[in-house]
Amino acid sequence: MTDRYAVLGDPISASLSPAIHMAWIRDARLDATYTAMRVEAGRLVDLLSAFRDEGGRGANVTLPLKEEAWALSTNLSDTARAIGAVNTLRLDSNKVIHGDNTDAVGFASDFQDQAGEPDRDSKLVMIGAGGAARAVVYALGKSGYRLAICNRTLSRAKALERIYSATTPEQTARVTSHPIEDLPALLEWADIVINATSLGHSGQSLPWPSGRDRFVYDLSYGTAASAFLAPAQTAGWRTADGLGMLVGQAAASFDIWFGIKPDVRRGFEAAEAILKDRNQ
Ligand code: ATR
Repeated sequence: MTDRYAVLGDPISASLSPAIHMAWIRDARLDATYTAMRVEAGRLVDLLSAFRDEGGRGANVTLPLKEEAWALSTNLSDTARAIGAVNTLRLDSNKVIHGDNTDAVGFASDFQDQAGEPDRDSKLVMIGAGGAARAVVYALGKSGYRLAICNRTLSRAKALERIYSATTPEQTARVTSHPIEDLPALLEWADIVINATSLGHSGQSLPWPSGRDRFVYDLSYGTAASAFLAPAQTAGWRTADGLGMLVGQAAASFDIWFGIKPDVRRGFEAAEAILKDRNQ
């Protein structure tokens, strides 16, 4: 039976993951398929059991299922345990469900490429403290950067501050949480801004001060990232969207399932081709 892989979530039809993984599967001449499957919140456990019976060997999990995937994994990686969310499942023949989180490594590798290796004294501001921010905070904590987390709901920023501190206890003094009212001052203070909010999805951005060639990294991609990043560019900020992070997490998942480190450039091109088609 052909091995099956899938990305599970809701909504899922716009996912770029099938294009990325199928490009790598074809390159490696594997007898496997990778598709997108819509799975509503609360339905993951039933779906996985049917999926395994039909040749399912692994899955990526996205909104709104990452916590559910974490809860039903019978063997969690240290990273997934620390982040509290799973984006990669591996189903083995003993019915063990291995849960991992490759978002952190996907972010870390792309962020370093794009930001040009910030030094430990660089002042990072992350705006947003939802699900997408958790893996980022975990990755940043490991690197020991100075980090100010700013969020509309302060309690969520404080919860992320605890993940950062737990990742590297000696770094506790290097992370702070802030209410949204602090944002203008933080944007002046920052060397680098990371957007983990969903503002771009509703066409919104921030009141950018002069960028002076500073750097802003948006975790989203496509039209949401364009909406968020365009005003920053106009104000003189250097920008990058999260497509590289998406491909980075996909590459790490592919390695978990197949033991093959795929060609990241090729995955990036497959994703970009889909986005380009959609814009036409
Ligand atoms: P995701 O899993 O994609 O991160 P999420 O958990 O819903 O999605 O998080 C969305 C983030 O965008 C949150 O940090 C949210 O702020 P709250 O925690 O206060 O909800 C932020 N966000 C969404 N709309 C916003 C807005 N209009 N202004 C400021 N922050 C906003």
